Amino acid sequence: MTTSINNHIHNEIDMTISSRFITFFGATGGCTNAALVHTLNAGIQVRALARTPSKLTDMLLAQGISKSTIDSQLTIVKGDIASVPAIKSVLLSGDYALASQIMSGVGGTPQLRWSLKHPVTIDNPEICASTTKNIVQALREIYLEHPSTAAHKPSIVIISTTGVSDVCEDVPFGFQTMYHVALADPHKDKKVMEKIITENATGSDAVFRGAIAVRPSLLTGDQNIKGGKGWKSLRVGQEDKPAIGYTVHKADVGEWIFEETIKTDGQRWFGQKVTLTN
Ligand SMILES: NC(=O)c1ccc[n+]([C@@H]2O[C@H](COP(=O)([O-])OP(=O)(O)OC[C@H]3O[C@@H](n4cnc5c(N)ncnc54)[C@H](OP(=O)(O)O)[C@@H]3O)[C@@H](O)[C@H]2O)c1
Repeated sequence: MTTSINNHIHNEIDMTISSRFITFFGATGGCTNAALVHTLNAGIQVRALARTPSKLTDMLLAQGISKSTIDSQLTIVKGDIASVPAIKSVLLSGDYALASQIMSGVGGTPQLRWSLKHPVTIDNPEICASTTKNIVQALREIYLEHPSTAAHKPSIVIISTTGVSDVCEDVPFGFQTMYHVALADPHKDKKVMEKIITENATGSDAVFRGAIAVRPSLLTGDQNIKGGKGWKSLRVGQEDKPAIGYTVHKADVGEWIFEETIKTDGQRWFGQKVTLTN
């Protein structure tokens, strides 16, 4: 009896170490989808949550990812980010292996309303905060239910925005009214999201091994990885020394995330708020 429990624990630990995979949330979004295309092209295993799995596979096929790559490297869990059980089944594979990294580009759909002060809101104004809250909750439950997984906690990368810094102005003068007045509601949500990942990446109670907030300037284009100027063309800044610019292409943001945080594990960016602009 004892032997079989010990074997089970060892198997769990072995699986945790050996089966590296990354989880994606919001993978049908422009930046995140571009990052996913690069990740699959690099041969990395991925588990992703999608409300409409066929939308995700169609987007990948359209970018030249073959059906056999999708079948062999990508596991899609159908579900909503409001569901902690769905998030848990993305983070933890059937053989008790836990994700090594979490990538989230979840966001709401902007909506205009009759308000001079705050004309832009989003369909779900707390979507980013509740996404990160639910991911934290899912990890806490996993660590309780499968204690060995806590030895290898995942890192997290989230897509936030410029215009939310309390340290330094990172929005160019011409966009400051739009960012600080018109977009105040969506930005409040992004601030809470950043706070949640920061608080949960340090201390004995941390659920993440490290946390990175990517702050792109105004997004242009789409997920097509051939549409951008290339990640090396980006200007990259940090919270106290931001790169200030007007726009950035979604495909370039996705490629930067892949090159700097997925391919290389991203440790050099842990704890940072990284501004990206073209
Ligand atoms: N617009 C800008 O200029 C700008 C600038 C800086 C930062 N940002 C932020 O950057 C992030 C990425 O933007 P993006 O344009 O690349 O992506 P996006 O088009 O905003 O995509 C959002 C993603 O979130 C998913 N999602 C939304 N609600 C969900 C839910 N309840 N459950 C599961 N998934 C859900 C969507 O899935 P479905 O396909 O199912 O809808 C989609 O995959 C967003 O948070 C955005 O606000 C935007």
